[in-house]
Amino acid sequence: MDDERLPIGSAVDVGVRVWPRPSVDHTAADSQVESDDEIASMGDTELVEGIERLRAEKQAIILAHNYQIPPIQDLADFVGDSLQLSQQAAAADARLIVFCGVHFMAETAAILCPEKKVLIPDVEAGCSLAATVTAEQVREWRRENPDGVVVSYVNTDAEVKAESDYCCTSSNAVDVVRSVPEGREILFLPDMFLGLFVERQSGRRLQLWLGECHVHAGIRPDDIGDLLDEHRDAHLLLHPECGCVSQCLYALGEGDLPADRTFVLSTGGMVRHGRECSAGHDYVGTETGLLHRLRTENPDKEFIPLREDAICEYMKKITLPKLYRSLRDEVEQVVVPEPIATRARVAIDRMMKVPAL
Ligand code: 13P
Ligand code: SF4
Repeated sequence: MDDERLPIGSAVDVGVRVWPRPSVDHTAADSQVESDDEIASMGDTELVEGIERLRAEKQAIILAHNYQIPPIQDLADFVGDSLQLSQQAAAADARLIVFCGVHFMAETAAILCPEKKVLIPDVEAGCSLAATVTAEQVREWRRENPDGVVVSYVNTDAEVKAESDYCCTSSNAVDVVRSVPEGREILFLPDMFLGLFVERQSGRRLQLWLGECHVHAGIRPDDIGDLLDEHRDAHLLLHPECGCVSQCLYALGEGDLPADRTFVLSTGGMVRHGRECSAGHDYVGTETGLLHRLRTENPDKEFIPLREDAICEYMKKITLPKLYRSLRDEVEQVVVPEPIATRARVAIDRMMKVPAL
């Protein structure tokens, strides 16, 4: 496919902060674990046994996102996408939730479960996409658009959610936007590729925040090329944050990509597709952590990443030693101040009511 065919012409510049990749210093959290004598002397088997013992003793539940490293996925009580993890957190019958994912996900769990202690094993597990927008920027848009509606992807900080009317995830964004009363100006933030996808699928005009995820934005049409022509039994699975999604939708409309073999899905949708679909192999356009689950659950199928280097370094911050320390010392607790949590909960509750695709 031609990379230039569909310019992102419908994006409206609403005052974009050109995101600097968060240049956080990760050495502090890492060195705390490394300098801990007990943990430094433990091998992986001992760490897993220790984690399982502490989980039982402390009535804890371990939630892991689909992008986590394999040993974390393998011992988690539940592995899922953003919406599924929020649902699991809300329903969890546990005193302690250890969230193996990135910070905004743990914050969402803390907002949904104010009575539970929510931990993240490394506070430096951030998100480059969430870092593209601040609450003050949303307030600024609201001052200019007093009747406007703000729909925020779940990949945002709690303060941004508190300024939003609706929250959504990749699995229900189209239906959340469709649920907004007609005739209202809508700001969709922060991911422009997801926003363009939602605009096309919902038929609603959106103002788009020009944020992107550095991992998914790098998955381009050139990575797809003629793969589906060359492999007639293959399916193409794309996360809507991918930098190629707009061009792929255009190519689908033109008949240049086969509609029955191209799917735009959340990570949870990809897992379901892997289970339910009989294609011999799937090309997977998302962070490579998902491949562990796809391959484990479907040993007879082949899953090939569109890009081997689609790796989210923030998701990989969570390791066995950090998870062990988190459970043992009950650190790092994620606390969202109640006035912010109360306002953010309104937007998150709306997201939870809209079913996933
Ligand atoms: P999902 O909700 O599809 O799991 O996506 C979360 C995410 O961070 C994608 O980069
Ligand atoms: Fe954020 Fe991208 Fe990592 Fe997802 S893959 S957590 S959007 S930086």
